[in-house]
Amino acid sequence: MIRIAIDGPSGAGKSTVAKALAAKLGILYVDTGALYRTIGYYVRSRNTDPKNAAAVEALLPNIEIDLQYVDGTQHVLLNGEDLGDRIRTNEMSLYASAVSAIPAVRSFLLDTQRDLARRYSVIMDGRDIGTVILPDADVKIFLTASNECRAKRRYDELIAKGQTTTYEEVLATMQARDAADSSRTVAPAVAAPDAVLFDNSWMTPEECTEGILNVIKEKLGDPADRI
Ligand code: DC
Repeated sequence: MIRIAIDGPSGAGKSTVAKALAAKLGILYVDTGALYRTIGYYVRSRNTDPKNAAAVEALLPNIEIDLQYVDGTQHVLLNGEDLGDRIRTNEMSLYASAVSAIPAVRSFLLDTQRDLARRYSVIMDGRDIGTVILPDADVKIFLTASNECRAKRRYDELIAKGQTTTYEEVLATMQARDAADSSRTVAPAVAAPDAVLFDNSWMTPEECTEGILNVIKEKLGDPADRI
C-alpha cells in the first residue's frame, strides 16, 4: 500500500499532477475538494448561508455522499445523483471554502477520506491531507505557484468550460479563498512539517509530474514494489 498526500492552494495544479501520477503509478486519485464542493452545492440548493455553522450542521443528516471510480475518474454522488461539473463553478468554490471552515463538516467527511486510504493505494489532493487526514502518508507534497500563475490557470480552465468571468475576478476570488482556507482555525491549509515544498510557477505539468515522481522514488525506492 502507498499513500501520497498532495496539498496546496487552489490553482497550483494539484489535480492535473495527481491524476497523471495516479495513472503512472496505477493507484487511485482522490480529489477531496469535490467533497466540500458537493456539500456547498447542497447548502446552496437549500438557500442556506454557507457561513452559518449551525444551519449548515443541521443539513448534514440529509446528505449522503458516495464516491465512485469509473476508469480512474472520480464521480461524486449527492443523495444518489452525479453532479458532474455543476460543482466546478466560481460560486461553488466559494461555497466549498465557506463550509470547509465548519468543524462539523470536516468531521462528517473524515471517515470517507480515511476509509478510501485504508482500502486502496491512493494519491489524495486537498488542503489538510498531510496534516490531518493522512498524517502518516508515505510522501507529502505541498504544491504551490505564484498568485498570477494560479489565477491564469484557473481562468483558462473556467473559460474552456464555457463559463463567463474575467481574470481579475478569478484572481480576487482566489486570493480571498486562499486567505480564508489558510487562516481558518480547523485544519488550515498549511504545509505539514515533513512535506516537500514544490513551486511549479515556471514548470509545465509534465515537468512538475516528473519532479514529484523523482521525490516519490527517492523516498520509496521503486513505488511498484509497494503497491
Ligand atoms: O481543491 P478545491 O478547489 O476543489 O477545494 C474547494 C474548497 O474546499 C477549498 O477552497 C477548501 C476546501 N477544501 C478543504 O478545506 N480541504 C480539503 N482537503 C480540500 C478542499
